[in-house]
Amino acid sequence: MTWHAVADLTEFEDRPVLAREAGGVALALYRVDGAVYATQAHCTHAGVSLAGGEVVEGYIECPAHYGLFEIATGRAQGGPVCRDLATYPVRVEGTRVWVEIRPDGARR
Ligand code: FES
Repeated sequence: MTWHAVADLTEFEDRPVLAREAGGVALALYRVDGAVYATQAHCTHAGVSLAGGEVVEGYIECPAHYGLFEIATGRAQGGPVCRDLATYPVRVEGTRVWVEIRPDGARR
């Protein structure tokens, strides 16, 4: 297991979703009700970046076809999406945000 420093909490002040890369994995980072979550960066429907999506009450809405995923679990919530997002463990130390990526890039 390898933890990667991927962001600072201050970066969420202007944007609800951050696009990052760690350990060869493209990530989307979200701050919801004070907690930070990480999922795969791209929608499971047609691969559009979720970083351009809208966060609404704990869900990320894909900007392409409005598919919804629950951010905390990655669970697909209907619409054109039927496959869940991969999620990754997150920890926050001070203001630094760390994401755990297994060396083989495997998902949780
Ligand atoms: S690419 Fe996300 S809903 Fe179609």
